[in-house]
Amino acid sequence: MTRPITLYLIGFAGTGKYTIAKEIAKSGYKVVDNHLINNPIFSLLDLDDETPIAENAWISVRKIRHIILDFIAQDQKSNFIFTNALLEKEGDWKIYNLIKETAEKRGSLFVPLKLILSPEEHEKRIASPDRKARFKMTNLAEVHIKKEMIKIDHPHLTKIDVTNLSAGEASEKILSFVKSLESSFPADEDKHSVGEIVLDEMDTSEIREVLWQGIKAFNQPYTGNITTQPFALSIRDGKSKIIAGIYGFTFYDHARVEYTWVEESYRQQGLGRKLFEKLDEFCRSKGCSVIQLDTLDFQSPAFYEKMGYEYIGTVSEWINKHDCYFMRKIL
Ligand SMILES: CC(C)(COP(=O)(O)OP(=O)(O)OC[C@H]1O[C@@H](n2cnc3c(N)ncnc32)[C@H](O)[C@@H]1OP(=O)(O)O)[C@@H](O)C(=O)NCCC(=O)NCCS
Repeated sequence: MTRPITLYLIGFAGTGKYTIAKEIAKSGYKVVDNHLINNPIFSLLDLDDETPIAENAWISVRKIRHIILDFIAQDQKSNFIFTNALLEKEGDWKIYNLIKETAEKRGSLFVPLKLILSPEEHEKRIASPDRKARFKMTNLAEVHIKKEMIKIDHPHLTKIDVTNLSAGEASEKILSFVKSLESSFPADEDKHSVGEIVLDEMDTSEIREVLWQGIKAFNQPYTGNITTQPFALSIRDGKSKIIAGIYGFTFYDHARVEYTWVEESYRQQGLGRKLFEKLDEFCRSKGCSVIQLDTLDFQSPAFYEKMGYEYIGTVSEWINKHDCYFMRKIL
């Protein structure tokens, strides 16, 4: 059985997505234009160029989208082509992920395509009278005051510059790209079969990386791109031996301390305080607004209190019946 295709044309309003999609449809694709989803509701509104669309209308649009996608997810035969003007914002990431998941559920080859266009040609296309009739934006300024285009990262993603292409030429180019993908990414019959649970206690690095990449992509729409950067502050003695330090990492606008240690013979001499002062300075320079750590009751909660940390939570009787305190310092 050949694998169905889910094409996703993404581009600013007025880049010709719908016109190109209609051309591609001639080769056996069903078009799911964004306005197929919006217009049942939009056509019931008194739309003008100024009044924003009310939230209750968007709620109904979202319900329609879910119903349509649910239906498409059951179709393992047809080729579909979606079009959207997706920007780098939370709501648009949700739409992108919904369509990607729909494509995956029906076992199709998912091909997201970004359409790009020169500003001059864009101005011409956006003013077309046909657009107004389909409740589309016709004002270039309105398109450009918005944010940048969504920054998706997908192995099948490609960009197509349609400035000098007719809809027919763009369609041809896209279809030949899809063909090349079909041969480079052959259908994997085993992709949706599920094996046994495997326990690994030795080499966990590959699994950790896959899970981390997965959760990072899942979080992205809610948190933006988070970069995690480890850091270490250390002090050595005259023989270059490490005698004290802090290890942790920064992420988003937070810092997390994992380990703090001062060699016993150097304790109570101010090294811990010096390290934590340096930590505050470093974290501020990285734009962090909070430092978080945890410590067991027999370790150093009182030391951290002195360093300006407050208690934010406790796990009682954690390791060997010792309480674990979560603490933080707002910078
Ligand atoms: C906790 C630790 C890092 C502190 O380092 P240090 O170099 O001894 O600390 P400092 O000499 O800079 O002390 C700074 C202040 O904290 C106090 N203090 C230090 N350790 C303390 C502790 N365990 N409990 C309560 N207060 C403490 C000091 O008396 C000093 O107080 P002062 O400013 O009023 O005089 C060090 O004792 C250590 O490595 N402990 C064992 C490992 C550990 O508990 N690590 C933390 C795991 S979460």
